[in-house]
Amino acid sequence: MKMNGGLRNLDPALRRAWHPLCRSSEVATEPRSFGLLGERYVAYRAKDATVRVFLDRCPHRFAPLSLGSCEGDALRCAYHGWLFDAEGRCTEIPALGTDAVVPTRAQLSGPARVGESHGMVFVAPLPPLTPMPRVAADGDAAFMKGDLPIFETRASAGLLADNFLDMAHFPFVHANTFGADQAREVPHFSVTRDGYAFSAAYEHEFLNREDPGVVEGVRPLLQRRRLTYRYTAPFHLELAIEFLDAGGTNVIGFFLTPVDDETVRIYSSLWRDDLAGSEERMRAAIDFEVAVVEEDLRLQSRYQSLELPLDIHAELHTRADRSTLELRRVLRELVDCSNAL
Ligand code: FES
Ligand SMILES: [Fe+2]
Repeated sequence: MKMNGGLRNLDPALRRAWHPLCRSSEVATEPRSFGLLGERYVAYRAKDATVRVFLDRCPHRFAPLSLGSCEGDALRCAYHGWLFDAEGRCTEIPALGTDAVVPTRAQLSGPARVGESHGMVFVAPLPPLTPMPRVAADGDAAFMKGDLPIFETRASAGLLADNFLDMAHFPFVHANTFGADQAREVPHFSVTRDGYAFSAAYEHEFLNREDPGVVEGVRPLLQRRRLTYRYTAPFHLELAIEFLDAGGTNVIGFFLTPVDDETVRIYSSLWRDDLAGSEERMRAAIDFEVAVVEEDLRLQSRYQSLELPLDIHAELHTRADRSTLELRRVLRELVDCSNAL
């Protein structure tokens, strides 16, 4: 199964990183099950509004706890009614009567860390080596946010991250959306590394067909924009597009959950400060982005081998592939550091 030491969805090193478990809006006061790294987790929101996450498996007879129910901050298993408090300690075993001493081993296990950021619940199964992901535009009142529907697809999270950072595929894969006008040549760009994160930026000219200023004759059709990619290991990606002539910034967030060896969940959101608060324009932007993701998935879901090569000599790289080469270096370090622990 494993070849060339490539990164697969269930690589043990990924347990030492933050991953999106779900959107914050998906967690309420009833338990719900979500898959991550080959395991099922149960999540619910406690009275203090914090999200509680445990393995979705009762320690008694391994029944899925997500079939149970919440009683205040506690979670009751649907099978024999064991009750677990918000820390996962069993406080009641109905079959033993009210005075029974509950065995200390009757304790739920959970991930090492749970947190929320930009409207998502993140989980690190083991103490994370990578930083908690953030999206700067999320706290900025000038930006409106829109969520794409959640995709679940056959894919490699590493290959999808590679695809998001890739700048040379636009005219080919995205010929029916934004790719038709794209120059085939990738401009020179540099990559700035910061621990388990990096950014890559370049400016280029493009045809701004959406700018009303073009129709009004205020601005030319050919305008400048700056694209800044931000990556945080393992699978947290952002692209900020700044319109240097017309003004405004679009941020596309792409957050990947390796669910099992062959499945990835894709959470994508848009942050825009140029829609004048129009929900209708945001819906149109989301529909367009969905079409773009579908174009990518048509290819990504058909990879025969679902792994991202981490041996940098295994593939051919060009100067247009600097950021995706850096992706391999960062993930190689994560795997090496995790193995050394
Ligand atoms: S399996 Fe959960 S109480 Fe028995
Ligand atoms: Fe793409």
